[in-house]
Amino acid sequence: MTCVDVDQRKIENLNKGILPIYEPGLDAMVEHNARDGRLAFTSSLPEAMRSSDVYFIAVGTPPGEDGSADLQYVLAVAREIGAHLERYALVVDKSTVPVGTAEQVRAAIDSELERRGVHVEFDVVSNPEFLKEGAAIHDFMKPDRIVVGAESDRAIDLMRELYADFTRSHDRLLVMGVRDAEMTKYVANAMLATKISFMNEVANLCDRMGVDVENVRTGIGSDSRIGYSFIYPGCGYGGSCFPKDVKALIRMAGNHDFVPSVLEAVEARNEQQKGYLFEKIRAHYGPDLSGRRFALWGLAFKPGTDDMREAASKVLLRQLIDAGASVRAYDPIAMDVARDELPAEWFGDGRLTLVDHQYDALRDADALALVTEWKPFRHPDFDAMRRLMRPDPAIFDGRNQYQPENMQSDGFVYYGVGR
Ligand SMILES: NC(=O)c1ccc[n+]([C@@H]2O[C@H](COP(=O)([O-])OP(=O)(O)OC[C@H]3O[C@@H](n4cnc5c(N)ncnc54)[C@H](O)[C@@H]3O)[C@@H](O)[C@H]2O)c1
Repeated sequence: MTCVDVDQRKIENLNKGILPIYEPGLDAMVEHNARDGRLAFTSSLPEAMRSSDVYFIAVGTPPGEDGSADLQYVLAVAREIGAHLERYALVVDKSTVPVGTAEQVRAAIDSELERRGVHVEFDVVSNPEFLKEGAAIHDFMKPDRIVVGAESDRAIDLMRELYADFTRSHDRLLVMGVRDAEMTKYVANAMLATKISFMNEVANLCDRMGVDVENVRTGIGSDSRIGYSFIYPGCGYGGSCFPKDVKALIRMAGNHDFVPSVLEAVEARNEQQKGYLFEKIRAHYGPDLSGRRFALWGLAFKPGTDDMREAASKVLLRQLIDAGASVRAYDPIAMDVARDELPAEWFGDGRLTLVDHQYDALRDADALALVTEWKPFRHPDFDAMRRLMRPDPAIFDGRNQYQPENMQSDGFVYYGVGR
């Protein structure tokens, strides 16, 4: 397998064994497959095409200004494939792309072939990716399902052959129409985002009604029709998928003169939820946070990754800094990404300091804000924390990691989400 990226630095680093992302287990896997000659990296697509029969397009599909998925990278790859295609190939849309994209990819390749005056057969299939960051290898090796949207038998047979090793115990391949497969990916992410936003709405209501949402969560999760997953209240979902995919589905609906009221509410609730911790902070300390010092635990959008795209931590940091506070932040994995992604001026005048240990963040802090539920944050030494912090310390727990009763007896003012 040859991986292609236009980012030369990424390719140079990958060839040296340096991965651009943190993903548990991936470095060892890349290293031994590269060493054994099964995996290569290049920035030249024509070079990769010479030794390949199946081309996966897995480039980014970020939201455009109107929220729709920006297909420029996908279509650029399609055109390049068309410009160099010499023999039958299967082109696989792996990126999350709107319904109808496979037709656009086909047209882009066709128009390049026409320009060259050659006729080469090819198929375009949709094979959306469902892996979770932080569990990518497991999800890839043991997928719940492999969705394949294809129109030709030749393409379906090739996809079956390709995935044969991952479907030995039972057939996990779901073959459907190309448009159905494209839609399936968006609906899967929108459904999960809906569960999260629904539960966040319930949590906000619980906060106002003297109800502990954690009891409600276990009370409803035990119903097998509902289940426990994705009903954890918190300070909003982030990452590279849910926010952009919900937006893109809303946009797709708009293109068909349809108002997706549930999806719009899911997105709106999530935007509000990212500001929920700050609302509690402001209610506790008042609007002016000058002179206040905060510890922030967790910068990645979720545990197990260094990805900070659309992370709730970024929203909270901006709100705290705009209100005059200073912040010392720590994340077990995302520190380098934070250094690159967060505004340089925050570091310049000491409003934001990244520290090397979770307890360092607490030194002389008025309060701790917990934003990402990394395991090391789950059972901290509360006595040590209290000693490090200023008098009357507060904890703003954006992921409901601690028990409110214990926090009070440990000497903290505690705020969770919906407790
Ligand atoms: N990240 C995930 O966990 C995940 C999960 C499921 C689906 N997806 C989907 O996969 C797609 C990619 O997501 P990502 O997070 O890896 O994006 P990303 O932005 O991190 O990476 C995209 C890569 O594509 C490269 N690229 C851009 N144009 C190129 C070209 N013409 N030729 C070769 N390389 C090119 C970029 O340099 C970049 O390295 C998106 O559609 C996303 O929705 C991602």
